[in-house]
Amino acid sequence: MRTVKTASQLRAAVSAWRKAGETVGFVPTMGALHAGHLSLLGAARAAAERTVVSIFVNPTQFAPGEDFERYPRREEADAAMLADAGCDLLFAPGVEDIYPAGFATTVRVGGLDDVLDGAVRPGHFDGVATVVARLFSLVSADVAVFGEKDWQQLLVVKRLAADLAFQTTIVGAPIVREPDGLALSSRNAYLTVAERATAPLLHTTLVEAAREIAEGRADALARARAWLGEAGFRVDYLDLRNADDLAPRTHAPGRLLAAAWLGNTRLIDNIAV
Ligand code: PAJ
Repeated sequence: MRTVKTASQLRAAVSAWRKAGETVGFVPTMGALHAGHLSLLGAARAAAERTVVSIFVNPTQFAPGEDFERYPRREEADAAMLADAGCDLLFAPGVEDIYPAGFATTVRVGGLDDVLDGAVRPGHFDGVATVVARLFSLVSADVAVFGEKDWQQLLVVKRLAADLAFQTTIVGAPIVREPDGLALSSRNAYLTVAERATAPLLHTTLVEAAREIAEGRADALARARAWLGEAGFRVDYLDLRNADDLAPRTHAPGRLLAAAWLGNTRLIDNIAV
């Protein structure tokens, strides 16, 4: 695996592959990699002949007071994991490569960006859409893989790619979980031992609520929010939505999405109903 830091090195490497007629798969990440990220790399390798993974902790998707400064950074361990997993190119740019002096553009995906995580974290999806648009331009991949763990982000990226006519097909990959159901996340590293023991209840609660919704219980969402509260979570949202446009729903089918805090750690998860 080669590691490149600058946009021009990245372009040179990708255009050499393109000249040789090879297809390119891309997985954008913020690093602190785990088996969830590696599953996306596996999907990219299955879909394309060459793979690029980017690691960039994107400052514009963090609001002031969020965890940008303390977000885990483990470049060496990440590079070793990617090399082992068969990645061809690691793109690990500095802020000046992604946001050069004078950078003044914001990409906003309307409609999807002001509900759920977008309502709780204003501006978050602008930061995501802007960095993803720039990364898509730099990599010009045939396929890019995103995790269903960030369901709303996946929808935002699909809309963005369609609206801006990127020649990159967006592929969603299933959520990778710990044996106890907790969705893998770089932020799980923040959890204390006691919080880690409680954390799988987020997924258990979604599974139980999904069953009750499917049975037609009108108070399923309220009950689920109450369970999480009793277990020590502070719930940002737990809602049933249309899977493809996030419009509110009262009955199955839909996507059940939740975000909740345990201490200083914000966890998100979602499942199909
Ligand atoms: P990050 O949180 O590092 O996630 C990178 C990709 O890994 C995302 O597509 C995310 O959905 C996926 N992912 C994370 N945990 C997963 C799990 N347990 N199972 C399956 N996939 C999982 O998402 C971002 O970074 C950033 O917003 C980014 C898109 C890179 C833009 O900065």
